[in-house]
Amino acid sequence: MSGNQTDRSQSESQPVPFLDLGSQHGVLREEVLAALGRVWDSGAFVLGPEVTRLEEQIAQYCQTKYAIGCASGSDALLLALMAYDVGPGDEVILPSFTFFATASAVTRLGARPVFADIEPDTFNIDPLQVQRLITERTRAIIPVHLFGQCARMDHLLQIAQAHHIPLIEDLAQSIGAEWNGRRAGSIGQIGCISFYPTKNLGGAGDGGMLTTNDERLADKLRLLRVHGMKPRYFHRIVGINSRLDSFQAAVLNVKMPYLDRWTAQRQANAQRYEELFAVAGLTDTLKLPVALPQARHVWNQYVIRVPYGQRDPLREYLTQAHIGTEIYYPLGLHEQECFAYLGYRPKDLPNTAQVAREVLALPIFPELSPAQQQRVVACIAEFFRGQRRQAVLVPNLLLRTTPVGHAIPDAQCRAVQQ
Ligand SMILES: Cc1ncc(COP(=O)(O)O)c(C=O)c1O
Repeated sequence: MSGNQTDRSQSESQPVPFLDLGSQHGVLREEVLAALGRVWDSGAFVLGPEVTRLEEQIAQYCQTKYAIGCASGSDALLLALMAYDVGPGDEVILPSFTFFATASAVTRLGARPVFADIEPDTFNIDPLQVQRLITERTRAIIPVHLFGQCARMDHLLQIAQAHHIPLIEDLAQSIGAEWNGRRAGSIGQIGCISFYPTKNLGGAGDGGMLTTNDERLADKLRLLRVHGMKPRYFHRIVGINSRLDSFQAAVLNVKMPYLDRWTAQRQANAQRYEELFAVAGLTDTLKLPVALPQARHVWNQYVIRVPYGQRDPLREYLTQAHIGTEIYYPLGLHEQECFAYLGYRPKDLPNTAQVAREVLALPIFPELSPAQQQRVVACIAEFFRGQRRQAVLVPNLLLRTTPVGHAIPDAQCRAVQQ
């Protein structure tokens, strides 16, 4: 076997991890350890100069006047709602398709989450649904910029301004994303960032930040994160303990200058998937993620939709081939057990219910190589070729069922499989 053939067959059978933080960590090791050493020697472990520096960098990056560090993205959402005194009797509108923390921040304050359905192409909150759900009890709207792409902020801003309701942006997954040239976190009244390790700018543990252009809100958020205490042991309001620690900030300060390069790599990977899926003839079989022209998409996740009940078998096939995938998210929030008391039925938010049964996130991390992406697409193509062969041998297989149990006709199924 020639050297080239060996290389090819090796890369054809190499595992493709869903996420590979190790390669990034290897490159940054010395820089990060030096920064951690400086924090250790300084003894300033909570807030402190590293946190202040990060706050300045993030404010500049997100094009806001202020940034306030806190312990996590979940706490950022909680603090943002606390800054607006959200509590029992209030309603907060948010998408039904997002990570749990967006909703739990609302319920932890005794308020009611009101779920708005999403646009299935972008996975983001549908402004028309938001409009319908506003009542006199609505105290905030939380658009989530899911998977790296902003929600339709111009439309949402119009609705929010017309009703004098604050917009709290959840940009946990979307630092650096833009809508019509404006950075996520600078468009609404408050932005909430997560530095969870899998995010585009991820720490070595939990961390979060709030962004705002409003000085009064910035002051209140700074107070809320330290038990409402100012000066020491004098509590003006009841806050929580949610401070960003200096070790996390030091890691993030090292990573910050690399963020744009990593984002460009993610964008190139998304582009490459699109080309590879087109060449493989899979663009009718699968629904590829849509990047809107108004958006700067930063691709925290590359999420395809696999219709007609094929998502789980495909995922199993890829797992067998050692290709990592994830399901964000297997249920809409309105279908979660803990929110049963809200009284939603799955079909109340049909786009969310459908999408949750079809989504499959593929590897998109910056260091993913073209050969790895080729392998992912080749394996997906192989899966669907296998399905077609089976369908020819066992004609009944052509009558599949959709996730909600309706039979779909042969012709449609054939079209899907070709
Ligand atoms: C959309 C969204 N909101 C909120 C959060 C919460 O962030 P954290 O994990 O830092 O608490 C996350 C993170 O997973 C998220 O993806």
